[in-house]
Amino acid sequence: MARIGVLTGGGDCPGLNAVIRAIVRKGIDVHGHELVGFRYGWAGVLAGESLPLDQEATRGILHRGGTILGTSRTNPFKEADGLERVQASLERLGVDALIPIGGEDTLGVARRLADAGIDVVGVPKTIDNDLAGTDFTFGFQTAVQIATDAIDRLHTTAESHNRVIVVEVMGRHAGWIAAYCGMAGGADVVLVPERPFDLEEVCESLRRRQRRGRTFSIVVVAEGATPKEGAAWTQHAGTDAFGHARLGGIAVHLEREIEERTGFETRMTILGHVQRGGTPLAYDRVLGTRFGVEAVDAVTEGDVGRMVALRGTEVVRVDLDEALREPKLLDPRLFETAEVFFG
Ligand code: F6P
Repeated sequence: MARIGVLTGGGDCPGLNAVIRAIVRKGIDVHGHELVGFRYGWAGVLAGESLPLDQEATRGILHRGGTILGTSRTNPFKEADGLERVQASLERLGVDALIPIGGEDTLGVARRLADAGIDVVGVPKTIDNDLAGTDFTFGFQTAVQIATDAIDRLHTTAESHNRVIVVEVMGRHAGWIAAYCGMAGGADVVLVPERPFDLEEVCESLRRRQRRGRTFSIVVVAEGATPKEGAAWTQHAGTDAFGHARLGGIAVHLEREIEERTGFETRMTILGHVQRGGTPLAYDRVLGTRFGVEAVDAVTEGDVGRMVALRGTEVVRVDLDEALREPKLLDPRLFETAEVFFG
């Protein structure tokens, strides 16, 4: 029997509560562990702010979006005596091992804690699906479905008005959401971070489409897409505790540029955090549940410094290092398939 701490860090993601519930249910019912939750990611660990996680605390949460633990982008290694404070807090609370649920930043902290001798097993989370080591992260499919539903709606209004509509979706380093929802929603142009774009070429493809009698177009753009010449467009200044710029707003720029260059009436929609909120799809509840069960099994077996992952249809364990080496970028073959339907 062990006392295990659970936390959710970084951006929230549909399916987080399914992971928490699975860790608690398997951890208590099968392994006889004691579980505690830390509030607001690493901030709660630093502050030693915890709550008991038991069957009662996790009842009725499977279908709920967000995270019952709260989350933050706190980086303990940016805080004075961060490592010492984490160690002291775990010692004071009698926590033997941690299961952090998060993306590259949260799991990057986990890896450094593992190097310092703390037992951790990570669970990969991000709607962006850009974590290496796993074929999919939970939350991604829900985000894709939300974006696809939005594109379906935007299609009818674009067609009614003979407009170009630019739809901005999330995706900092990778265009997984853009490529998937673009393909599912029948987008005419998809712009992703992996393929810097030429605005004139984008406009020319819209003009070509117009010449073929298509009087409206849908352009999907990932927030992290960049032009061939120049840097990413964002409406925000500053960076978070992990050094990431706050993205968002490339669609504003594209709306103006496309309208000016082509003369086609253009409107933009930024989907933003709508993609992260609300009920997770069944797929993400199941994946989150499988990850949670595997993570608590790994802690029980002492198989630490690891991350649970999906490979094909199997849930496996990989070294945290493998997951964090570099972001998992879009498979070029997937993009080539999407491209068949552009224009
Ligand atoms: O968690 C990933 C993500 O959704 C990115 O796609 C996006 O750039 C970022 O989080 C937004 O973060 P925040 O919620 O802090 O604005």
